Amino acid sequence: MNVVRAENKYEQVMSYPITRPRRLRRTSALRALVRETELSMGDLIAPLFVVSGSGIKRAIGSLPGHDHLSVDMVAEEALALSKIGVKGVLLFGLPETKDPLGSSACDERGVVQQATRAIKRELPDLLVIADLCFCEYTSHGHCGVLLNGEVDNDLTLVETRKQALSLAQAGVDIIAPSGMMDGVVGAIRSCLDEAGYQQTVIMAYSAKYASSFYGPFREAADSAPSHGDRQGYQMDPANTEEALREIALDLEEGADIVMVKPALSYLDVISRAKQQFRVPLAAYNVSGEYAMVKAAAGQGLIDHDRMMLEILTSIRRAGADLVITYFAKDAARFLRHN
Ligand code: PBG
Repeated sequence: MNVVRAENKYEQVMSYPITRPRRLRRTSALRALVRETELSMGDLIAPLFVVSGSGIKRAIGSLPGHDHLSVDMVAEEALALSKIGVKGVLLFGLPETKDPLGSSACDERGVVQQATRAIKRELPDLLVIADLCFCEYTSHGHCGVLLNGEVDNDLTLVETRKQALSLAQAGVDIIAPSGMMDGVVGAIRSCLDEAGYQQTVIMAYSAKYASSFYGPFREAADSAPSHGDRQGYQMDPANTEEALREIALDLEEGADIVMVKPALSYLDVISRAKQQFRVPLAAYNVSGEYAMVKAAAGQGLIDHDRMMLEILTSIRRAGADLVITYFAKDAARFLRHN
């Protein structure tokens, strides 16, 4: 037997044939006994897409299994999700009208605001999370106010305060700013606190990368930029240190939960963020990650359910406490409801 001195502890390292790691893999009960990462429905957040109008439940072509829902249909879907163990929904809105400022995002009668009220009326305990951004609401599809062709940070913060306040007034539990504007968490926190919404939680999309994995979402949310791209505000996929700086800044500004997005190509970032900050950490298993599995499964190339569970487990294993995922409904067939 070799006794190896690790940092602060003694580890016994015995070798074959005394040691046989396969012993603990032999049966399903043994594997469950020593499993390190648990996945349960309570860890998953389901995105929903709300459209204006009524009586609408229309399949979203780019996201198989998901629908555009009008306000009157959204509570029904939320109820179905809550019945299968989902604890929170993340709302995205496709408004009736768009303008350069994205002002319909701040309208108390906006689609997300109305959907929030409708869900809260029926299901007061279901967490309603609102994505706070402007790309679905601006005529140009960028995530804020344009000045000389660029998204102006501080002008966008002015509009952000309005949107945050209208979402809080509608009764959302959590506001999730996803536009990657500097100072956005502080701006939202101070505005909410001044208005008496000290208990509204902020889940910051702190490390959000300029990713090709958002493709199917942009079709679903009608939010592709009409010119240019988002590299001026979203992060360069090559960077990790920058992600850690972004997270530190958001925590300083008062973020309650921080996020890394996308998840799969950024598991290393999730892992480092968890190790460094030890705060509640979300990961967004984004639309392209979902669509790839659906497409491959549709062609019979992979086993859909096993791949889905492996992906969700890997995101939790890397360090995410909660996972925003289009798989929530599919996963419910396999997971514990707590
Ligand atoms: C809004 C927003 C996006 C996503 C979440 N919030 C799109 C984007 O940044 O272009 C992407 C989610 C997904 O792909 O599932 N800014």
